[in-house]
Amino acid sequence: MAGNRVVRARAKVNLSLRVLGVRADGYHELRTVFQSIALHDTLTFRSARGPLRLDCSDPACPVDGANLVWRAAACVWAAGGRTGEPRDLAIRIEKRIPMQAGLGGGSSDAAAALRVLASMWQVDGARLPDMAASLGADVPYFLEGGTVLGLERGDLLFPLLDIPASWVTLVMPGFGISTKDAFGWWDERRDVGRALSGPPGGPDRVRPAFSNDLEQPVVDHHPEIAQIVKMLQRAGASHAAISGSGSTVFGLFDRKADAERAARAVGRGGRTALVSRTVDRAEYRRR
Ligand code: C5P
Repeated sequence: MAGNRVVRARAKVNLSLRVLGVRADGYHELRTVFQSIALHDTLTFRSARGPLRLDCSDPACPVDGANLVWRAAACVWAAGGRTGEPRDLAIRIEKRIPMQAGLGGGSSDAAAALRVLASMWQVDGARLPDMAASLGADVPYFLEGGTVLGLERGDLLFPLLDIPASWVTLVMPGFGISTKDAFGWWDERRDVGRALSGPPGGPDRVRPAFSNDLEQPVVDHHPEIAQIVKMLQRAGASHAAISGSGSTVFGLFDRKADAERAARAVGRGGRTALVSRTVDRAEYRRR
């Protein structure tokens, strides 16, 4: 490898996330709109003799086969016809995207690793979407970036017109949420709803165009989320919701000063807040 390769792995928010039902494979059928934001992890790839080495600035982040970057490397290694475990490579992750936050950090890191390693190990880029989908439902989106509609598991992708540039206030409560748990809470709620009101089709179906169907099940378990959404709305956000399965709540603002004021107002009492901005497809591709 000629020198180090350094790439950004950007985060996403879900502008909207509708859960349409449960699939035969246990996943949920989604209609979601992904949006890239500037917040990013940084991955550095360098040659180093011996077995693959992965390390991360955040000690809470796994650095073995439990990390999607490790699994991405194993995928590309095998796709290139190599045998055994990946080797002669060290990958360092500078983590800035909070984990268990609904911002897609682990998936974005994995997609960045797929791209870099496919070029490094001469694997046809046309094979990347399938490899990405095998790693996780959100990973294929991070090969695209910008404003994208995701159907099926969220991995059948249709690029949309980029939304107008916006400032994004991200508020992280002092806890994370596992995606699996959040979908499980949606299942429980749906079952209770059925028992109370019969088959779907009632007034419950009328909802605003931009909404996140995981938000109420998450709020049932973490009421603080609803308070944060309200605080961002009161601070003037044109849209405020959880991202993905949470725990991050985001608000969209036209003006940076308003986004910063909201971050100061909401990011206290055990919460952290930061201000980012949307990134369109062209900027995402420049990486
Ligand atoms: O694909 P990924 O490993 O990121 O998904 C994590 C978990 O989230 C899955 O195991 C599943 O429980 C849930 N999930 C789902 N439907 C989706 C995406 C994720 O049920 N469309």
